[in-house]
Amino acid sequence: QKVELELDEIEKGGYEHFMLKEIFEQPNSIADSMRGRLDAKNARLTLGGIREQADALAEANRIIIIACGTSWHSGLVAEYLFEEFCRIPVEVEYASEFRYRNPVINEGDVVIAISQSGETADTLAAIELAKSKGAIILGVVNVVGSSISRASHEGAYLHTGPEIGVASTKAFTGQLSVLTMIVLSVAQRKKTITESKFKELLQELESIPDKIKKVLDSNDKIEYISSLFKDAANFLYLGRGYNFPVALEGALKLKEISYIHAEGYPAAEMKHGPIALIDEEMPVVFIATRDSSYDKIVSNIQEVKARKGMVIAIVTEGDVLIPKMADHVIEVPRCDEALMPLISVIPLQLLSYHIAIMRGCNVDQPRNLAKSVTVE
Ligand code: G6P
Repeated sequence: QKVELELDEIEKGGYEHFMLKEIFEQPNSIADSMRGRLDAKNARLTLGGIREQADALAEANRIIIIACGTSWHSGLVAEYLFEEFCRIPVEVEYASEFRYRNPVINEGDVVIAISQSGETADTLAAIELAKSKGAIILGVVNVVGSSISRASHEGAYLHTGPEIGVASTKAFTGQLSVLTMIVLSVAQRKKTITESKFKELLQELESIPDKIKKVLDSNDKIEYISSLFKDAANFLYLGRGYNFPVALEGALKLKEISYIHAEGYPAAEMKHGPIALIDEEMPVVFIATRDSSYDKIVSNIQEVKARKGMVIAIVTEGDVLIPKMADHVIEVPRCDEALMPLISVIPLQLLSYHIAIMRGCNVDQPRNLAKSVTVE
C-alpha cells in the first residue's frame, strides 16, 4: 500500500492534486496538441488525421457537433469559429438528445464528435446513428484507440496526455486547440479567410502557451479571491461571443467540484431571468476581455453593480475601465478574440479549484461523478 501511495505522489509531480497539476500543465499540453501540425513561420497547418475527408469537410453543407459535458462547451466555441472563418452552418448537439429525437441527417453532413475519453456512451450511440444515415464522422478525441476514435472515419487526437482529474481542464484547452486548427485548415482550403488573417491566427495560436503561463502567475491572487467567495451559495457566470461558452464552462467547473450552485449565461440574457437573483450575496463572474462585445459587457457589469452584485471580472491586461467598476479583476494577456477561450478559461479553472479545496472537497474525485460515462 505504501508503494501505491508513493506512486500516486510521483504521478502528481509535486502537485497536491491531479487537477492542479493538469491546470498547470496546459502550456505544455497545448504545445503538444500543436506539435508537428502547426508551423506558424511557414504559415502551414498539417492535420494528417483528417486528410482523406478534407474535401468533404470543406464542401459540407452543414456540420453537426456531438458531445457531452465540457466537450460540448468546446463544441460551442467551434461553432462560432466554423461560422466566422469557414461560413459553414453548425449545430452543436448534446449527444443524449440527438440520439433519441429522430434528427435530420443528410448525405454530405459532417459530424464532429468531441470526447476526452472516447468512451462516452451517448456520444458513441449518436455517432452510430449518424453513420447509419450516411454522415461522415470525424473524432476529436484524447484517448488513443478508444471506442469513439475507432467508430470515426477520421479524426485528430488531442495529444494532451492522460487526464486523471474528473473535472476536465487540459482536455478542454486541447480540444479548443485542435478544433481551431481544423477550422483554420478548412478556412484556408475554402478561401474564406485571407492569407494574412490565417498567418496572424497561426502566430497567435503559437503564442498561447506563453500567454497561459502568464495567467498561471496570477494563481496567488485567484486563491485570495477564492477565499472571499468560498462560502457563497450561488454563482453566476456571464460572457458574450466567444466567451459565452467559457461562462458555461466556468459554472460547470465550480458546481462539479465545489458543489456550489452555479449557472452560466450569455451576458445579454441576464435581463430575461437571472437578473432577478442579483443582490449583495450574489457573486457574478464576468468574462469581459477586450473584444467586439466589450462595450456591451461593460453595460452588463453596470447593471449588476446597480443591483449590488459582487463582480469578479476577467479582463484584458491594461484595461482601466472595468477595474473601476468591478470588485475584483483578474488580468489575462491580450489575444485575438477567436482564441481567447483558450486563455480566459484558465482563471476560472483555478477559481473553482481553490474554492473547492477551501470547502474541503475531493477535487480529483467529486461525489457522484465519473471520468468516463460508459452507461446512459
Ligand atoms: C463526464 C466527465 C466530464 C466530461 C464528460 C464528457 O461527465 O466528468 O468531465 O466532460 O463526461 O466526457 P468525454 O470523455 O466524452 O469528453
